Amino acid sequence: MNKNTVYDCSIIELSKHSHANGNITVVENNISVPFSTKRVYYLYDVPGGESRGAHAHKDLYQLIVAASGSFTVTLDDGNVKRTFILNRPYQGLMVVPGIWRNLDDFSSGAVCMVLASDVYTEEDYIREYSEFLEFKK
Ligand code: TYD
Repeated sequence: MNKNTVYDCSIIELSKHSHANGNITVVENNISVPFSTKRVYYLYDVPGGESRGAHAHKDLYQLIVAASGSFTVTLDDGNVKRTFILNRPYQGLMVVPGIWRNLDDFSSGAVCMVLASDVYTEEDYIREYSEFLEFKK
């Protein structure tokens, strides 16, 4: 997991069922995403100018979706950074373990929905960038 790079992360096009009265997007375990979802959480009411993230996970896989509005995700593997603007509810950014991430530029009303491969445990987090760089060695 510590050898993963930002090039192992990518935008996944999710299904979009369009109807005159609205759209539906579906995410299915091991079909739309290459992991099983054990947890869903969402960020909202992020004040303008604020950022989130600033950590890495040791083992967790995540799919990050702009369920509403837009925001920017910057991924960093300790060597290379890649920036993704998420603004479509039918696209998700797959983030593999061992990647530092920052989320910012939240639009008003943005909802950042995250599908995660495991339950919450603080032990899976790396919150110090220096510790992250050690982990990547
Ligand atoms: P964190 O993942 O650091 O937020 P972000 O990446 O959006 O900045 O989570 C912030 C706090 O929320 C964390 O310290 C504990 C709590 N939390 C949970 O209790 N369960 C969860 O599943 C998540 C994601 C966070």
